[in-house]
Amino acid sequence: MGLAKKTGLLFLAASGGGYFWLNRGGELSRTMGAIRRDVSVIQERDPAATSMIETLTCYSGLHAILLHRMAHFLYEQKMPVVPRLVSQINRFLTGIEIHPAADIGEGFFIDHGSGVVIGETTEVGNNVTIYQGVTLGGTGKETGKRHPTLRDNVTVGAGAKVLGSVIVGENAKIGAGSIVIHDVPADSTVVGNPGRPVRERGRKVGAADVDWTHLPDPVADAMQSLVRRLVELENEFKSTFPEKREEIEKAQQQGELELDRVFEYYRGSGI
Ligand SMILES: CC(C)(COP(=O)(O)OP(=O)(O)OC[C@H]1O[C@@H](n2cnc3c(N)ncnc32)[C@H](O)[C@@H]1OP(=O)(O)O)[C@@H](O)C(=O)NCCC(=O)NCCS
Repeated sequence: MGLAKKTGLLFLAASGGGYFWLNRGGELSRTMGAIRRDVSVIQERDPAATSMIETLTCYSGLHAILLHRMAHFLYEQKMPVVPRLVSQINRFLTGIEIHPAADIGEGFFIDHGSGVVIGETTEVGNNVTIYQGVTLGGTGKETGKRHPTLRDNVTVGAGAKVLGSVIVGENAKIGAGSIVIHDVPADSTVVGNPGRPVRERGRKVGAADVDWTHLPDPVADAMQSLVRRLVELENEFKSTFPEKREEIEKAQQQGELELDRVFEYYRGSGI
């Protein structure tokens, strides 16, 4: 083999190896970052956590997520069997079963822990809290992605079961003991079996609307849609007749102040 060929091969091997280790380094530092956050959220969310030493030693939910981070890292490296073994040791020690493939974001807090099951294709966003007895599982009828996706800041109450490849939206709360088999809208609270929303965007579902200060104003709505249409027309006009552009923009600037006054009036400011 010629020298040039050898050098080329050596270069290819070195850059491939470098890329491989850099990639691992990235994953490792992401895992370490997530672990730091897992520890700090306990002190943020549990008033009973009084010191770091107590947090590190007395929270089986924390032990479970630390072991899971390790299992998940090995799983991502495509290591055979060992990740499942770590997961089983985790279950034996903490009573919490998390499949190594489950993709869990930063700041995950399992309070009290025991009896939690998290399935293989589960995805969990950042800052999620779950309590003892929660199952993020499958219905037994699906294949492929068959476990839930929990977006950021979701809370799942004690004993709740979220089943199937459902999506639980940001900031949603699932009440203790609920069984959820459909998507949950963001910013809502779902309770019962089957889970039904009792609160959406901070307002009770099905309750009489007693917000008398923010009544809909059809005249203001009509005005706004007329103005929107007018602006669209002006913009279309500008692109069709570029030579008129300056003139139109001047007129638009002059009209803006008057339009603002009209809107303020319809929003209730009076004249
Ligand atoms: C659902 C929860 C988050 C409260 O949310 P919220 O938006 O404040 O809801 P509200 O308390 O206003 O309750 C709304 C309705 O749902 C009902 N409800 C609340 N939690 C419920 C639950 N877990 N199961 C069934 N119904 C429930 C309420 O009775 C109320 O019904 P009503 O409108 O007929 O009176 C809370 O009740 C809960 O279950 N938290 C989990 C806490 C937990 O797991 N703790 C374990 C500590 S060890």
